[in-house]
Amino acid sequence: MSGKKYELVDLESGKKTTLDARSGSVGPDCLNIGNVTKDFGAFTFDPGFMATASCESKITYIDGDAGILLYRGYPIEQLAAKSSFIEVAYLLIYGELPTPKQLEQFDHSIRFHTMINETLLRVFNGFHYDAHPMAMVSAVVSSMAAFYHDSMDNHNPRHREIFAHRILAKVPTISAASYKHMLGQPFIYPRNDMDYCANMLRMFFAVPAEDYEVDPVSAQALDLLLILHADHEQNASTSTVRLAGSTGTNPYAAISAGVSALWGPAHGGANEAVLAMLEDIGTVDNIQKFLDRVKDKDGGKRLMGFGHRVYKNFDPRAKIIREMCHKVLGRLGQTDNPLFELALRLEEIALKDEYFISRKLYPNVDFYSGVIYSALGIPRSMFTVMFAIARTAGWVAHWMEMIADPAMKIGRPRQLYTGPVQRDYIDVEKRG
Ligand code: ACO
Repeated sequence: MSGKKYELVDLESGKKTTLDARSGSVGPDCLNIGNVTKDFGAFTFDPGFMATASCESKITYIDGDAGILLYRGYPIEQLAAKSSFIEVAYLLIYGELPTPKQLEQFDHSIRFHTMINETLLRVFNGFHYDAHPMAMVSAVVSSMAAFYHDSMDNHNPRHREIFAHRILAKVPTISAASYKHMLGQPFIYPRNDMDYCANMLRMFFAVPAEDYEVDPVSAQALDLLLILHADHEQNASTSTVRLAGSTGTNPYAAISAGVSALWGPAHGGANEAVLAMLEDIGTVDNIQKFLDRVKDKDGGKRLMGFGHRVYKNFDPRAKIIREMCHKVLGRLGQTDNPLFELALRLEEIALKDEYFISRKLYPNVDFYSGVIYSALGIPRSMFTVMFAIARTAGWVAHWMEMIADPAMKIGRPRQLYTGPVQRDYIDVEKRG
C-alpha cells in the first residue's frame, strides 16, 4: 500500500467507503476497488481496460508519456544495442541477466529443443495451401498440449521450466513449417549448431536442392526485431494468455490463445496492414489523398502503424527500428527501397498534421518493422508470425509469473447487463 487513501461517497445516501492506494516501484498508484462492490454493491465499468490494472507484475514497465520501455528495469535502447534475443528471453523469464554460464546453458537448452515431433508435423497436411500462417501456428501450438499433457503439471516448477524452453525453441520451427506448407516446399529440419535467428532464417529459406548460407546481417537484424517485440506488459495478447492460463489450462493452449489475439490488425496484425497500406498508397504523391481519407470519420481508414493505447509520445521501439532500417537496407544494398522512402515521407507528413498532433498519434513499433521484414525476404503474411515468435518470450514470462503466484485467481470480469429483464418463454406457435 502507498498509505494514500481515497474516499468514495454515494451522493444519494451519503454512505462512504475508503479505497486504499497501492504503489508500484515506479508509475501511477492503483486504487484497490474491492470496497466498491463490498460497500456499495456496485461494479466498476472500464471497457477496454483504459484505467484498470489487471495484475501485479515485475516484468515490463512502460511510461507512455515519456516514451520509456524497460524489461526487468533495463531500458530497451540498451538491450537493443548490447543484448541478444536469447539473453532477453532469459531476462524476461528468470528476472535477471544471466551469468555467462547461465546464458550458455539456456542457449544450449533452446538449441536442443528445436525439433518437433513428426506427428505434429503431419498436422500441417490438414491445412489448405493458402491457410493463413497465424491460423496454422495457433493450431499447431495448441496441438502441443496434446503431446505434452502427461508431462505438464502446472504446479511443478521444473515442468514449467521445461515448457518455457520447449515453446521458445519450437515456435520458430512451427512457424517455418507453416511457411514451407504455404510454399509447397519440403520442411527444413532445425540445426543445433546454429543460433536462434540463423537457424530460423535457414528453416525459412533453405531448400534441400542446394546449399544455403545465412546472411549474418539479416540474422542480426532479425535478432534485434525479436528483442524489440519480446514483451510489452499487459497488451491484448499477453492479457489473453494470462486470462486463459488463469483457469489452469495447459500452457500450450494458453500460448495458442495469445497467438490468436495477436493476429488482429489492431495488435500484431498491424505490421502486415502497414505494408498493405504502403503498397496501396503507392507513391509519395498519393500520401495527402490517403491522409485525407484517414482523417475523414466516414472514410473507414486508419493510418496503420500509428497510434498506441499506451504511448502518447514516440514509441521508443519505432525510433530504434527506423534507425535500423537505414542500417539494414544499406547493408543489404537496398538504400533506395521505395517502401521505406514512402514510409519516411508518410511519417514526416503525418507528424506535422494537426489531426495526428492533437490526438498524440505517433509511429508505433510496427510502422517500420514490415519494411525490414520484407527487405529480409519475409513475405507479408508471415510478419505477424515473426511478432508471435518474439512475443512468445513475454507470454511465457507472464504465464510463469502468474502461475507461481500463490494469490492467483481465475480471471473473471463482471459486466453491465443491458439485455431484457426476466420474461416467460412463449411457445413457438404463439409467436409472431
Ligand atoms: N489513424 C487514424 N486515427 C487514429 C489512429 C490511426 N492509426 N489511431 C487512433 N486514431 C484516432 C481515433 O479515430 C480517435 O479519434 P477521435 O478521438 O476523433 O474519435 C483517437 O485517435 C483515439 O483513438 P482510439 O481508437 O480511441 O485509441 P486506442 O488507444 O483505443 O487505440 C490503437 C489504439 C488500436 C493502436 C489505434 O491507435 C489503432 O488502431 N492504430 C492503428 C493500428 C496499429 O498500428 N496497431 C498496432 C498497435 S502496436 C501493437 O499492437 C504492437
